[in-house]
Amino acid sequence: MPIENTLSIIKPDATKRNLTGLINAKFEKAGLKIIAQKRLQLSEDMAQKFYEVHKDRPFYNDLVSFMTSGPVVVQVLSGNNAVKLNRDIMGATNPEEADAGTIRKEFAESIEANSVHGSDSLENANLEIAFFFAAVELFS
Ligand code: CMP
Repeated sequence: MPIENTLSIIKPDATKRNLTGLINAKFEKAGLKIIAQKRLQLSEDMAQKFYEVHKDRPFYNDLVSFMTSGPVVVQVLSGNNAVKLNRDIMGATNPEEADAGTIRKEFAESIEANSVHGSDSLENANLEIAFFFAAVELFS
């Protein structure tokens, strides 16, 4: 299986409830390595750009407000099949549809405040990692 890198964001609903350790324990227990990590407050401009693909969706403005409502932890997860593995560990976008044991089932508050983001393809992972990190910041 290929070693991949993928972008993970721990969202404001989770940082506010002090859940970053519990969430990252799930990634590490599943074999993913955190090879870059920083906590930051997204500006409105950054959140708009990061979620630009959703700009015509009805939830876009609320999503930008939510993502700027508190600090986030942006991180790069690395491992075998990391893009899919991360998404399996996160669970479905809507916590009501997420499988038992997933992060969103256990911690998400709603479809918007769903605790974590993860890249949906290897191509997007590379773009999203480059959005937040310089190559020299990744420790493989
Ligand atoms: P994420 O994986 O970060 O990708 C886009 C985000 O938009 C998603 O998680 C949710 O936080 C949010 N989102 C997706 N669908 C909806 C929806 N129907 N209503 C509100 N927010 C949504």
